[in-house]
Amino acid sequence: MTAAGAEPRQPDGARGPTLLRGEERPGTGKAGRRPKSPRSSTAFDAALRGAPARMVRSDGAEVVLAVGRWHADAADDDGWLLDRCTGPVVDLGCGPGRLVVALTRRGIPALGVDVSAAAAARCRERGAAVLRRDLFAPIPGRWDHVLLADGNIGIGGDPARLLRRAAALLRPGGTVLVETDPDPAAWWAGTARVHTAQGAGQSLPWAVVGADALRVVAAAIGLEVVATHSGPRRFSELRVAASST
Ligand SMILES: C[S@@+](CC[C@H](N)C(=O)[O-])C[C@H]1O[C@@H](n2cnc3c(N)ncnc32)[C@H](O)[C@@H]1O
Repeated sequence: MTAAGAEPRQPDGARGPTLLRGEERPGTGKAGRRPKSPRSSTAFDAALRGAPARMVRSDGAEVVLAVGRWHADAADDDGWLLDRCTGPVVDLGCGPGRLVVALTRRGIPALGVDVSAAAAARCRERGAAVLRRDLFAPIPGRWDHVLLADGNIGIGGDPARLLRRAAALLRPGGTVLVETDPDPAAWWAGTARVHTAQGAGQSLPWAVVGADALRVVAAAIGLEVVATHSGPRRFSELRVAASST
């Protein structure tokens, strides 16, 4: 998802607390507040049942969603993500679960988490372990890798908060694998709606983050980039920085 036409904004991760100081307690949103109800539960559902869909952002930019890829077997650049996963994995916003299925086939324990009933149902049909849950709600276990694939770094519209959440699920030495925008300089935050032939879903807080902006946001909360991939799709792998431990 590119940030073309978006008003450039400074990543606000720099204003947040560090990872170790700012980590949220499980089950809470901002400190002391309960998480808002996951409005995304219906926003993606038609697309998660296979309907062609596009995301329309509050700045007017539109992106065709990769619905076909979500429902297909893992392929092409997915291989880079899969190869980085050497131990147990939790896939946040797993959609129909193609990465969970592929990891399970490789003998890597993997759990998908998705707020959508349609996504959870499709995962179960495919034999992928899944929790139907808001990713900011409690999630059992500590994991070697956390996946934020496709545009999922945008979930919630606050990438620093989402990265803190992801990092809190890691075992010591674990990594967060993030798919970034094709444009390394992309940075945008606002709201978005998923549109299908059935109409528009609810407005969601959303963000778009390129590799350069991710590096800045990650550093501000105590994460460092340890690997990147630039192909048709782009990924960054993050680990808690040595200076933060
Ligand atoms: C772009 S699709 C992800 C596709 C999937 N990661 C893939 O690569 O095939 C975004 C997914 O995130 C889920 N989602 C959005 N907000 C969420 C939240 N707060 N907690 C859990 N899942 C969420 C949606 O239901 C949807 O399945």
